[in-house]
Amino acid sequence: MRYGLLAWVLFVSMDLLYGRRRTLSKFKVLEVIARVPYQAWEHVAYIAITHVHPRPDFARRIFERVRESRLQQDNEQWHLLLLEELTDRLGVREGFVRYRVVPQIMAFVYYHIAWLLYVIRPRWSYLLNAWFEDHAEHEYMQYVAENPPLEVEPFESIFADDYGRFASIADLFRQIGYDERVHKLESLERVATARFR
Ligand SMILES: [Fe+2]
Ligand SMILES: [Fe+2]
Repeated sequence: MRYGLLAWVLFVSMDLLYGRRRTLSKFKVLEVIARVPYQAWEHVAYIAITHVHPRPDFARRIFERVRESRLQQDNEQWHLLLLEELTDRLGVREGFVRYRVVPQIMAFVYYHIAWLLYVIRPRWSYLLNAWFEDHAEHEYMQYVAENPPLEVEPFESIFADDYGRFASIADLFRQIGYDERVHKLESLERVATARFR
């Protein structure tokens, strides 16, 4: 996809802060940010339900959105936990400010952008997320392509029962990349069908 200004600013800032090289630690930052649009949509949808509850059919449709946002949020959460487990096992050292504080600040800002866009014009918020997910999908797939040893690295995880079992770490990353693609397609569908509110 061709990314718009907001997405471009985010990706460039991430490259400046964490380098252009794809690393597990950088993916973790990506996943911390990835969850927040879904949280923002869930929040706005709850406010909407409060206002439209006298119209049950409409409230029900909004609630379906809430459920969908939650599933996507959970999926991003598994990505983050799986990555966390990997960096832990490899003993990757990460500075507290750079890898804990700064990602939280970025997520905070991104949450409010996603929230505001969703209130003004939901389509804009979905499109921003589609760009984000498209970028994530490509980053994961590139990472696998750049690291052939991952093909023979066995996948062992305490989250296997929750997320899935894979023949290798390469397969795990391909699954994560595929999840991002599904998120992108879901957002693009909303871009196409979103009404004003
Ligand atoms: Fe993700
Ligand atoms: Fe995603």
